[in-house]
Order: sequence, then structure tokens, then C-alpha cells
Amino acid sequence: MELRRKDLLGMADLTAQEIGLILDTAASLKEISQRPIKKVPTLRGRTVVTLFYEPSTRTRMSFEIAAKRLSADTVNLTVAASSAVKGETLADTAANLQAMQPDVLIIRHQASGAPHYLARRLRCGVVNAGDGLHEHPTQALLDLLTIREAKGRLDGLKVAIVGDILHSRVARSNILGLTTMGSRVVVAGPATMLPPGLTALGAEVTHSLEEAVRDADAIMMLRLQLERMGQNFLSTLREYSTHFGLAPRHLGLAREDVIVMHPGPLNRGVEISPEVADGPYSVILEQVTNGVAVRMAVLLLLIGER
Ligand code: CP
Repeated sequence: MELRRKDLLGMADLTAQEIGLILDTAASLKEISQRPIKKVPTLRGRTVVTLFYEPSTRTRMSFEIAAKRLSADTVNLTVAASSAVKGETLADTAANLQAMQPDVLIIRHQASGAPHYLARRLRCGVVNAGDGLHEHPTQALLDLLTIREAKGRLDGLKVAIVGDILHSRVARSNILGLTTMGSRVVVAGPATMLPPGLTALGAEVTHSLEEAVRDADAIMMLRLQLERMGQNFLSTLREYSTHFGLAPRHLGLAREDVIVMHPGPLNRGVEISPEVADGPYSVILEQVTNGVAVRMAVLLLLIGER
């Protein structure tokens, strides 16, 4: 089976077969990163451009590492040092990059739909590396791979997603991806951070952290996105942490072999205690490792030889 797409824009577009193909491909590519020489020639001659209008550590670095492991040429446009600061529009910036003949453009943008807008205008592939409050599909794919590795399957699992759901494109992409693959998703957070429409996406909703994590196979904690909040979302960080911070005592409610996940970056002591983040149930760094494999798979399937 092939991924017959020019772009990867969101989990909403992907079938269970396509998700399975990406995860299987990522699983088979993982061993390349264990070799003494971590490089194969598969994408030699291809050009990958990254264009990040928002900060990133994991996504940007792992796309670049993924491309280099497949021998693609990578070019990173630092937006703060680009002509965007002189007022150049996103469409003009992208059209100028397209004129240099890249094969794929990886974009993170604060506006929901920005990657879709470019995908309609550009000949090269476009990958959504996070758009506004909308989607972050490669994060969801690496999360699915991490859960599948730990549990051997995705169907029939209970996955709790806890915290600032409102501002989380990671939550949205994971709800879509996990439910497509047959998992049960329970989301929990304060009322101010639970947007309408979650049940329509396929998630169950609760205001209780305890209820969400009870018998969970995987617990995904979300970062409190203070930079996207105005007033009135929460009274104090201490109160938030008391009600929605994951602490060791909560893990006893979950299944014995529960895994604890977080997309990063962590607010230690706010949504997750350091003991849990660094403890034996945490797979947070496995998620990062799987991010490289998943992004290798996405690049290979989009711009590799058919
Ligand atoms: N998980 C994630 O998207 O991290 P970065 O913002 O560091 O890329």
C-alpha cells in the first residue's frame, strides 16, 4: 500500500489503513537510528524546507534529523530573521520558497489552516507541523506509535487525555487518530479548557482527573499553554495543579501497566509532577525517539520513490 497524498495536513484526513501504513513504516525505520552510521540514501537529491512561525524544539529538530537520516538536503528558514519581519505575507514567502524547487515544506504556524492554504497553492508537498489550535498530526502519529509499541495494539485501549484541551492541537489530533484506530478516549480538564464539540470528535468528557485515569492504559498529560491564555482560564497554578496535576497517587487508579505521556515541553510541578515525569511509567523520551522515526516515515511516504 502507498500513501497516495501530496500533503499531510491532519489526522482528520487519514484512514485507519493509512495510519497503519505510517506506523508500520516508522517501526521498520527505527533501527536506522541505532546504527553506528545513521544514514541511508533513500531521499538523496530531495530537498526538505522547514518554516516555523512558532517556537519548537522537538518537532523542528526531529524533522531535520529525520530528513538527514534519509540523506535529504534540509534548509531551515528562521522566520524571525526572514523577510516575514518586513511584512512579507505567508503566501508570498511560500511562493518564493516554491520557486527554489523544494520537494516538501514543513510548516508550523499560529493560524489554524495555514498549511491547508499553502497546500492548495504549492506544487511541493506540505506537512502540518502544528497549526494554531487545529492539528499536529505527526505528534499524534508518534504518540500512536509509542502506545502501540507499549501495548501491542491500539484497539480497545482506554486513553486519558488531561489538561488544557482547549488550546491543544495535540489533543485534537490524538482524539481523531486514536478513535480511528479503535481506542476509547476520555478527556478531562477544567470547564474553561474543554471546548465544545469533543463528543462529536469521538471523545468522552469528564471534569475529574481521577475518573479519566481510572483503568486507563495510557495517560497523556497536556501542557498548560499559558502563552495562549488571557485572564479567566484558571484561578491559580496551584489550584490547577491540585485538581489536574498528575501525581504518583493517581497511577494506582490506572491499569498496572499504564504508560504516562506528554508531548513536551513540560511544566514540571504544574500538569505533571517530576516524580511521574521521570518515573518508571513515563515514556516521554520514547515519544521523542519515535518522533524521528515517524517523521522519517512521513517524508519517505510523501516524497520517496513510489
Ligand atoms: N511536542 C511538540 O510539538 O514540541 P515542540 O513544540 O518542541 O516542537
